[in-house]
Amino acid sequence: MNKKIVFVFVIGIIFVFAALVMVRSFFLKPSDAAHVAAIPEGEYDPAVWGRRYSLQYASFQKNLEMSASPTDFGGSVKFQHSLRQSEILTNFKGNAFSKDYTEDRGHPYSLTDLKESKRVTPQTPGACMTCKTANIPDIFKELGWSYANKPLAELFAESKHAIGCANCHNPLTMELRVTNPAFVEAMAKRGIDVTKAPREEMRTYVCGQCHAEYYFEPGTSRVIMPWDKGFHPEQIYAYYSTKPGGFEGDWVQPDSQAIMLKAQHPDFEVYSAGTHARLGISCADCHMPYMREAGRKYSSHRVTSPMKTTDASCRRCHPEDAKMLLERVRAGQKNVWELQHIAGTRISKAHEAISRAITSKTINKEDLDKAREHLRRAQWYWDFVAAENSMGFHNPALCLNILGQSIDLAHRAAESAALATGPVP
Ligand code: HEC
Ligand code: HEC
Ligand code: HEC
Ligand code: HEC
Repeated sequence: MNKKIVFVFVIGIIFVFAALVMVRSFFLKPSDAAHVAAIPEGEYDPAVWGRRYSLQYASFQKNLEMSASPTDFGGSVKFQHSLRQSEILTNFKGNAFSKDYTEDRGHPYSLTDLKESKRVTPQTPGACMTCKTANIPDIFKELGWSYANKPLAELFAESKHAIGCANCHNPLTMELRVTNPAFVEAMAKRGIDVTKAPREEMRTYVCGQCHAEYYFEPGTSRVIMPWDKGFHPEQIYAYYSTKPGGFEGDWVQPDSQAIMLKAQHPDFEVYSAGTHARLGISCADCHMPYMREAGRKYSSHRVTSPMKTTDASCRRCHPEDAKMLLERVRAGQKNVWELQHIAGTRISKAHEAISRAITSKTINKEDLDKAREHLRRAQWYWDFVAAENSMGFHNPALCLNILGQSIDLAHRAAESAALATGPVP
């Protein structure tokens, strides 16, 4: 009898202990163990934040490391995309992306890469700074949207720090916050107040505020996210077709003389309708997984390809062998890459076909307009996938579908161009 009581007692203690460990490991938010004075509002230097939050800061500093991704598609090694995809040179002809289009790298490089970009000219508006500096809250407070129309060169003086803690955290409470005013406004139009959003949503919004499609309002250069009709590339295309605020397009491709749209890293939009988003999995779940050091749990602030950290990023949900998981991801990306490359190449051919049609003596304007409209839409769909950063991983079904449509539209553009020059004699 006594033995039984002792046994039950010991089992009880083990059970309580295990429960405590589980609560600590799975449910509690990581705590900041250091007790240094709180960060004052207006402090933008991550090194100062780092004195209080040493684990987060140490992992944040790892963003300076540059390394390839095991998938061969992502990674933080700077290279020109046109070396892999020469169709970029034709498709973006007349646009600065044909001169300089490199792979993205870690957040601490945002200001350096902006300064070094051959896309920047004396005419580049200050609006470009919106997603490149931690100092954006001060700049917006001081100047409102008027900063967007200043020459970018002038804003470098006030933009002392690259992307940092202040872009995502309220310094006093450390709560997550969105600092890009364009995202706050665009979400408000969709009926979402991001200043009151639950924590789970904020773990995606802090990333979506920069990793999203936008355009500059003509005249003011104000940054606008084109989501009045929805996040799907068809809906965004329909929105742009209304010429919002007089915005017709980003540039004219000189061969086809078509008015084109340039897609800008729509990671947030592509992710939003994907399997993981529908399951409530946030950007931070994969890109900022929980890590542990000396018994302290923290969110990794090394924001890079999660395929470098699949144990922490994926395998709590996908317990399969790490190599098999990598192969599964690569296979999906390869499917997207192949169609993306085909679409890009067919679009180049369509630019050339229209260019030839324009020089013909007999030209049917109706068919020519049709050709340009098909081409503009084809390129928008292709670029939506090409400019997105995951080679389709964030939403393979959407990417494959719009690439299929893109290829069809590129062929239709070439057909209409042929019709525009009249019947073949
Ligand atoms: C389910 C996990 C998961 C979620 C959720 C997720 N991503 Fe990713 N992300 C990935 C994977 C996997 C890749 C491909 C990486 C590679 O090829 O090395 C990727 C690639 C990227 C890249 C390019 C990385 C590189 O190495 O160049 C960016 C940028 C990115 N994601 C941003 C986001 C943003 C922003 C969100 C939320 C809106 C998000 N991701 C949500 C898994 C995820
Ligand atoms: C790109 C956005 C982003 C940046 C930049 C950023 N953080 Fe975070 N941080 C997050 C997210 C997301 C979480 C998870 C918050 C949650 O789930 O409540 C987080 C969590 C934290 C936490 C809470 C404990 C933890 O580890 O989860 C601390 C402390 C913290 N960050 C400090 C910092 C410091 C210091 C910097 C600058 C060196 C920084 N953060 C930069 C997004 C960011
Ligand atoms: C203030 C704007 C901003 C915020 C906030 C932001 N990003 Fe970025 N992100 C950028 C820019 C700009 C780059 C490219 C920097 C460069 O190449 O110099 C980048 C690069 C990246 C990369 C490529 C790094 C690599 O190693 O390949 C990933 C991945 C990424 N971001 C994911 C995220 C995730 C996930 C979040 C949210 C936790 C986030 N970003 C929040 C602007 C932002
Ligand atoms: C919080 C849980 C969770 C995390 C974290 C997570 N996944 Fe998933 N993932 C799922 C679930 C659930 C599904 C749907 C069922 C399935 O297909 O296995 C899914 C689907 C997938 C698919 C199928 C393709 C698709 O988009 O429908 C792939 C590939 C995948 N995940 C890879 C990854 C990788 C790689 C990571 C880490 C970078 C990751 N997942 C992180 C839960 C997760």
